[in-house]
Amino acid sequence: MTVIDGKQTAAEIRKEIAAEVKLMLGAGKRAPHLVAILVGNDGASESYVNHKIKDCEEVGFTSTLFRYPSDVTEGEILAKVREINKDDSIDGVIVQLPLPNHISEKNVTETIDPKKDVDGFHPINVGRMVLNLPAFISATPYGIILLLEKYGIETSGKHCVVIGRSNIVGRPISILMSRSAKVGNCTVTVCHSRTSNISDYTKEADILIAAIGKPGFVTAEMVKKGSVVIDVGVTRVDSSDTKSGYRLKGDVKYEEVAEKCSFITPVPGGVGPMTRLALLKNTLLSATNAIYN
Ligand code: GUN
Repeated sequence: MTVIDGKQTAAEIRKEIAAEVKLMLGAGKRAPHLVAILVGNDGASESYVNHKIKDCEEVGFTSTLFRYPSDVTEGEILAKVREINKDDSIDGVIVQLPLPNHISEKNVTETIDPKKDVDGFHPINVGRMVLNLPAFISATPYGIILLLEKYGIETSGKHCVVIGRSNIVGRPISILMSRSAKVGNCTVTVCHSRTSNISDYTKEADILIAAIGKPGFVTAEMVKKGSVVIDVGVTRVDSSDTKSGYRLKGDVKYEEVAEKCSFITPVPGGVGPMTRLALLKNTLLSATNAIYN
């Protein structure tokens, strides 16, 4: 069994990105520039955004954070997004979700210029991904694809079972895994909260991707011997052993499943670091006009 080291893989790709930024600067171009918008004081959102800003600094990107109180109006956020859309010194913008209830995530997402939508949430990018056209792909699915590619895991002709149908993970990864692409060509089954007898499907999976946010949901008896198991779960559970007061738990019962499969991603240190990395990749793709030109 091989443990898929997302931390190491992300560090390697980050070095490649940093080297490319140096080349850009050497050629007289400006560094890629990511803007993040954060509304309110949710602890998890603050932590995610802080990581994104820190990641930018590490690879030499420029980053700007715009913070708003939780009672900011939707109009103010939309106006800021429109201003960013027009600003040629900015390559990518993300509005950290979730937003307070009085702000429509749909309106915000659809106001972002698809060419700067490095989160890959805009319907234009989702549609282009489905059509196998160049598109910004949302960070977690993109990170998973990069991991499968780095580890040389054969996907063609395999049965991939995805647990979860969220717009940002389950749905897009199910589409990517069935695409005609280097990492793809799978037969895909999507399981979700209304699937009956879920283990009937998971037991048949050559590649199992768990993205439901239920700690320890996938047990050894649910997986096929020799399968590849990708754990997207990152549920915070209280812990007195850590400084932060919580620890991250995956959707997979790691110890028992690891014994049975051929490849597995740990939590933490598997998909998580690759999700952070994918945002940097998308920002670089935007700065180099690799998706849209
Ligand atoms: N909230 C949780 N994940 C994400 C993400 O990838 N992007 C944004 N903008 N918000 C999030």
